[in-house]
Amino acid sequence: MDRLIIHGNKPLKGEVRISGAKNAALPIITASLLAAGESSVFRVPDLRDVATMGKLLENMGLSYHYAGGDVSIDTTGIRHFEAPYDLVRTMRASVLVLGPLLARYGKARVSLPGGCAIGARPINLHLMGLEKMGAKILLEAGYVVAKAGRLKGASLYFDTATVTGTENLMMAAALAKGTTVIENAAREPEVVDLADCLASMGAKIQGAGESIIEIEGVDELKPIRGHEVIPDRIEAGTFMAIAGATGGDLLLRGCRPDHLGAVMVKLREAGITFRETKRGIRVIGPEKLAPADIKTRPYPGFPTDMQAQFMALMALADGTSIIKETVFENRFMHVAELRRMGAIIDIDGGTASVKGVGALKGAPVMATDLRASASLVVAALRADGESIIDRIYHLDRGYERMDEKLRKVGAEVERVTS
Ligand code: EPU
Repeated sequence: MDRLIIHGNKPLKGEVRISGAKNAALPIITASLLAAGESSVFRVPDLRDVATMGKLLENMGLSYHYAGGDVSIDTTGIRHFEAPYDLVRTMRASVLVLGPLLARYGKARVSLPGGCAIGARPINLHLMGLEKMGAKILLEAGYVVAKAGRLKGASLYFDTATVTGTENLMMAAALAKGTTVIENAAREPEVVDLADCLASMGAKIQGAGESIIEIEGVDELKPIRGHEVIPDRIEAGTFMAIAGATGGDLLLRGCRPDHLGAVMVKLREAGITFRETKRGIRVIGPEKLAPADIKTRPYPGFPTDMQAQFMALMALADGTSIIKETVFENRFMHVAELRRMGAIIDIDGGTASVKGVGALKGAPVMATDLRASASLVVAALRADGESIIDRIYHLDRGYERMDEKLRKVGAEVERVTS
């Protein structure tokens, strides 16, 4: 199992190239299931979760190749319509095969994901939508077993805006008979990227990025022809937090500041300066960070996937910040680890009160989930002395070669395999 050894307090300066977005690449890869023949997707990050998705498709009999960010998938050989527990357990996004399999092949058997480190994370809204579109769904021995003739368009409403739920149902509706309307749809840029990809395959979708999406089903879709995945806004936000924590000066290349509105407003409040240049966005950390409050919300609100990294930053600020997590019920697992590094944080339900301490101290800590690990990296880069971050496989699920990118800008980071 790999761990990172970080010696903090080094000045960080230089360029960081932002990778393709994990949470856009995963649904786009599953969209290939909607068409016959060979699809290609570009700017796909080299991540554990992407490799798991590849394994899942190969397990179904598809051919899947990844080379230098380009993915090709051939759906011709498909013979199993199943996402087994072993793969779903390691990556919840596996549930994204449900909509496409049901829409194109009329059957799917997908393991129920179960809870995870950040909350219960049910998929009831995905299932409700598919049932309304005519699918028969049974729960058998921990699996969702779904069958359908051709799905029918339906009027759907989500009580809670769900990202992968919106994506699953948008993909199912693309091949359904008639029109589907999704109200209170998720508005994340990753939903829009998937809709753009589906449109390039021949789907008729209006309103992606707004809270009402209308999909007019078509009889057939073409394979994906070289769709380029959007840049990862959470990776970019994480490097912004790193520049802020270390008083660094980083030029982020290939990122989309228009996807980072709320994050940049809050980072500015904390004292970070942004300069948009022709080559990218320059992020300059202040000498002393100011406190700032956040409340996580669905897009365009402050993303829950940046909450942990922002908390690490506020642990260093000059004053107290209030951090409210409203999307997931258990997303404060990083707090205990940050405290081991000297952070002063009180938790009351979904609210954390963070009393900034100016500087943290290196310590051995444990990564508990993807974004929690990123927050420990932010903290360790600004801690005195050595930090050892264990269970770094969580970080590798969602950040492409983060240790390499950090070394290139002057951080002292070593990966050790034990
Ligand atoms: N929810 C339900 N019922 C459902 C689906 C969701 O009650 O059927 C609730 C959830 O429990 C949660 C809220 O709705 O309270 C929002 O969850 P959502 O479904 O939007 O989350 P997700 O689709 O499972 C995606 C990202 C997450 C990110 C969330 C929120 C992917 C593959 N994953 O998850 O990314 O945190 O949206 O923005 O797109 C990460 O990358 O680290 C990560 C966890």
